[in-house]
Amino acid sequence: MTITVASPKYVLFLAIIFFFLFSLATFIWASTIAVYFRPIVKYDHNGEKFLAYLPHSGLSNQRNELENALMLAIYLNRTLIVPPAFLGKLPGWHPGNSMDQDMTRKTEPQSWWYRCNDKYAINDGPCNEKTDYLTVPWEFLHEDMIELDIPMRHIRHVSTKKIQKLLSLDDSEIYQQQDKSMYSWVLCDKPRDQCPPVRVGGGNKYDDQWVIEDLQKIPHTLIQLQGMFGSNRVGVSGQEHLELRTKVQEALTYKNPIIDAVTANIVNEMGGKHSYLAVHVRMGNRQFLGNLQNTIAQEIAFLEHELAKMECKQPSSTNCTSPLKIYLATDARNPRTNADLAPLFERFPDAAILDDFSHLLSPLEQAAEVAQPPQESVARFMLPIIESMVSAHAKAFMGTPGSTYSRYIARLHSVYQSSKYSD
Ligand SMILES: *[C@@H]1O[C@H](CO)[C@@H](O)[C@H](O)[C@H]1NC(C)=O
Ligand SMILES: *[C@@H]1O[C@H](CO)[C@@H](O)[C@H](O)[C@H]1NC(C)=O
Repeated sequence: MTITVASPKYVLFLAIIFFFLFSLATFIWASTIAVYFRPIVKYDHNGEKFLAYLPHSGLSNQRNELENALMLAIYLNRTLIVPPAFLGKLPGWHPGNSMDQDMTRKTEPQSWWYRCNDKYAINDGPCNEKTDYLTVPWEFLHEDMIELDIPMRHIRHVSTKKIQKLLSLDDSEIYQQQDKSMYSWVLCDKPRDQCPPVRVGGGNKYDDQWVIEDLQKIPHTLIQLQGMFGSNRVGVSGQEHLELRTKVQEALTYKNPIIDAVTANIVNEMGGKHSYLAVHVRMGNRQFLGNLQNTIAQEIAFLEHELAKMECKQPSSTNCTSPLKIYLATDARNPRTNADLAPLFERFPDAAILDDFSHLLSPLEQAAEVAQPPQESVARFMLPIIESMVSAHAKAFMGTPGSTYSRYIARLHSVYQSSKYSD
């Protein structure tokens, strides 16, 4: 049998050959694409825009940065990328990219972190490493944050590169702020002509003043800021903004079942809420040491004044309406043998310190479940939090002037005095 060019069999044969070759070519092309031109998954954010910043310094300063960032997120209608809270030691502001690099190094998950939850591996090498910092989600410390009507994304690994990946952003979609100093900019929340003039180099703390509009004009999907620290750095004026800040500050009151229970037990041993006096003496930072003697003298005077108001000459005198205890919060290592604190203990030998309640602190180890990196013991990182809560439940409190930690206790103190907490 001969096959002529026009025969239907020949056409069928050719069709089969073509179909086969076409399929093969498509397969090869498709697999090449898959290997060499893997398409980048690009999320559509539907107009959602983001704001990120880099935290630094101690926990109270970080809370001030978070508060500023939340206000800014409201003003700009941007979702706030919330870093974790760093307990323990976190360096202060530093220039260039070093803050981002330091954050990345501290928070980048290590494969051994996850093996540490395995009880058979818990005694192995790095799981018992003693780092001088620990991160926990802010929401762990302040559960009311979820009630704030501000879009947030909580991250654990703090790094601009990581955020870029998370949001699938090109470089061109990121506006990267480069701070010149720790107080690089201040935001005025009023029309520009109503903002106070910035006198560059004229005793003004901030280098530059922005108004909300300046930042609203930035079209980038992500605004990555560096430092956020400074009281009133993000301006709050007018009824609406002031009310929003009150809500933000209330949400940033400690609320967590573990730390609440430990605090309640200590407060109970102190005689109950509002039934003792508290002072905070900040020692660890040279900034406060110059005034230390003065601060302590003022705090003794404050305690005496409070006792006199209740007709007590001695804290435990029978003349008092009710006998009063005194609580001393301090970062001094051994408060009772510290020479600087001697005048306070001479006057009030029975003043209580956190060490007196060490038998009540072990439940704090439960925080290990949310803490990174894994540690043999996490309770020690939580102690300053407990100290501030115990102080804030006192009848009256006096802190160290200029200490952000003291200022936060004073704020907690007034929140706890309000009806919501006075059960
Ligand atoms: C705020 O941003 C969202 C997108 O994240 C958008 O849907 C909404 O319209 C914006 N609101 C205002 C007042 O611009
Ligand atoms: C108790 O009150 C009396 C009368 O006011 C006073 O003389 C006495 O010194 C007070 N005692 C103490 C320990 O404060």
